[in-house]
Amino acid sequence: MSKALIQHFSKTLIAWHKQSGRSGLPWQGTRDPYAVWVSEIMLQQTQVATVLERYPRFMKRFPTVKKLAAAYIDEVLAEWAGLGYYSRARNLHACAQQVVDQFSGKFPSDPLLLEQLKGIGRSTAGAIAAFAFHARAPILDANVKRILARLFAVEGALQDKVVNDRLWQLAVDLLPAEPKNMPVYTQALMDFGATWCTSRKPVCVSGEKKCPYLKDCQANLSGQVLLYPQKVVKAKSPEFNCDMVLMRSANHILLQKRPSKAIWGGLWSLPEGPWESRASTKHSDINAKDLLAAALPDEKTTTLLKTSQKMIQGEQIKHVFTHRRLWMQIWEINLSKPHEFSGSDLKWVPLRQLGKYGLPQPIKVLLQKLSLTRGDDLKN
Ligand code: ADE
Repeated sequence: MSKALIQHFSKTLIAWHKQSGRSGLPWQGTRDPYAVWVSEIMLQQTQVATVLERYPRFMKRFPTVKKLAAAYIDEVLAEWAGLGYYSRARNLHACAQQVVDQFSGKFPSDPLLLEQLKGIGRSTAGAIAAFAFHARAPILDANVKRILARLFAVEGALQDKVVNDRLWQLAVDLLPAEPKNMPVYTQALMDFGATWCTSRKPVCVSGEKKCPYLKDCQANLSGQVLLYPQKVVKAKSPEFNCDMVLMRSANHILLQKRPSKAIWGGLWSLPEGPWESRASTKHSDINAKDLLAAALPDEKTTTLLKTSQKMIQGEQIKHVFTHRRLWMQIWEINLSKPHEFSGSDLKWVPLRQLGKYGLPQPIKVLLQKLSLTRGDDLKN
């Protein structure tokens, strides 16, 4: 790659950002690595509009890495509820503890050290190092991969190691010479990919705006922008059925803490039966006894059933994960007398206190919809 193109690329991008990039966001304009790190993790799989709402709240609740490290994981998960991809919250907590234990509470500036921390991949390490320390470290998220694949007409699937290595090398080669330009350059790359060089309707194709790289972009010059990066045909994600128990007694509801490694790990949900392939099961032919035995295997369900009235078929909810789709059938059971559960993962929670628990988003919506609680109890 010629030196002229390298200089032209970053200069053009920085000029573009001045005109059309995003600025004034609450996580910009800070060099506090803690603040930068939290924003980068939150922005990984959550839209900017949502992060704008939730980031200030998170920073107020956990203003320093030490406060986050000292918190209980349940508090962190409750604060994260609704943002999805909860492994991010668990990693955030673990990473804060690593920073406190291994680096005396100060984030390292070396991207290679940052990358050793929980939940920080190479691209996020690059972003933190660039924003907080002005390090000449590259980023390569999906948006940047798309920009570079188009600009240099990089053939092959992104999952391919050779392709990935080539893109990283390009990302390194294109870095601006001056470290002080790293924050604006990094932000500009993210913004350009998110708003102009988009996957389906890049401005060169829609004609809405004039891309500053029209004459440099190999994909554009050959009229094949939408063919880059090469798409991998994805198999349809599998579908599952699952029955869930919504057990109520007086003003309480029975919640179960999910195992940390499972989907929604560490969140509080409704006791549930096994996930079964939707191709081979139906929800309709389950009875209370079988469901309770499956959902609460360690309990004396016959005693429980004696004190319950009948089981009512409630809502069916569909939830789409990245790699699977889940259909949840809710079964409502009202107990006339409270029942003491032995399992430490089970808890009768007063309706008014549901807001204190990290709940999976569809369960939170369900409980709100059923008017089990006032909406504002669940919001904070
Ligand atoms: N996605 C990841 N990091 C981001 C940032 N700093 N700004 C906008 N979107 C992002």
